[in-house]
Amino acid sequence: MADHIRHVGLLGYPVGHSLSPAMQNAAFQAVGLAWEYVLLSVAPPSLQEAVLALRENGFAGANVTIPHKQAVLPFLHELSDEAEAIGAVNTLVIEGERLLGYNTDAYGFRQALVEAEFTPTSNHAVLLGAGGASRAVLYALLSQGVSVTLVNRTADKAFALARHFRPFFAETIEVVRYEEIEALQNVLNTADLLVNTTSLGMAPHHDTSPLASTLRLGAHLTVYDLVYTPRDTQLLQQARTAGAKTIDGMGMLLHQGTEAFRLWTHREAPVAVMRTALESAIISGKAVPPV
Ligand code: ATR
Repeated sequence: MADHIRHVGLLGYPVGHSLSPAMQNAAFQAVGLAWEYVLLSVAPPSLQEAVLALRENGFAGANVTIPHKQAVLPFLHELSDEAEAIGAVNTLVIEGERLLGYNTDAYGFRQALVEAEFTPTSNHAVLLGAGGASRAVLYALLSQGVSVTLVNRTADKAFALARHFRPFFAETIEVVRYEEIEALQNVLNTADLLVNTTSLGMAPHHDTSPLASTLRLGAHLTVYDLVYTPRDTQLLQQARTAGAKTIDGMGMLLHQGTEAFRLWTHREAPVAVMRTALESAIISGKAVPPV
């Protein structure tokens, strides 16, 4: 690595299919920064060593992805309010000796809603999934005054997520079991937003949907799928057929990245350049899960 180049990296395991190098390196080039975004494949037992090595090697920061988003917390000096509330970090900033943890996933989720000009009507969302991605989305919704119904194959994980967030928010968080189709239909009839945070529908299983085909969607709903490979998922096709509005997963991916760029460089992110870089990386088929 040449001395004059500043580095940021992605800590994950695996990391091979990430789209972030394409997006961030295009951004650095566009603003004239001699920076480089590199992939760092780090197995769980080596995480602490890898985080310390970033600092020793002069990295400006890093993104953190599966399976390290929660495991990295003990090695950090300070967390942003959002990272603290979500309980997970996807962005590290290194300031001298200090390791600072942020979570830009919630920002990415909110920004994609803004770009889609989503206008809440009932302030009630249905959230499919209770994994890592779900935590940031749930926080983003609750902190905007939205009540949430959680649905997950493993109900215990949804109950645990609800218990984690309830003390901090006045909004209702309820859990509907995966097999309670009628209860879920009732909620879908009144909610204004349905968000998929599960991996169902992701290539190579693009012919699957997280939603039973017997469930009816309607024009009152906006359906937001975090999956971005493919961008047009089976769920989004179901939604369009029902007359619902749709939001694909690219906006959240883009904007978790634009916010990370700002945190590392203290400059405005070249959003259009980053969007184009992501779009061409997706089209070229670079992103084959897991990401
Ligand atoms: P991420 O960090 O991307 O959210 P994760 O933490 O592994 O990944 O969570 C994956 C989510 O997809 C979970 O909600 C998972 O449901 P379980 O908690 O029951 O495992 C959901 N998911 C994955 N495969 C699924 C399947 N075949 N059917 C239903 N839900 C599935």
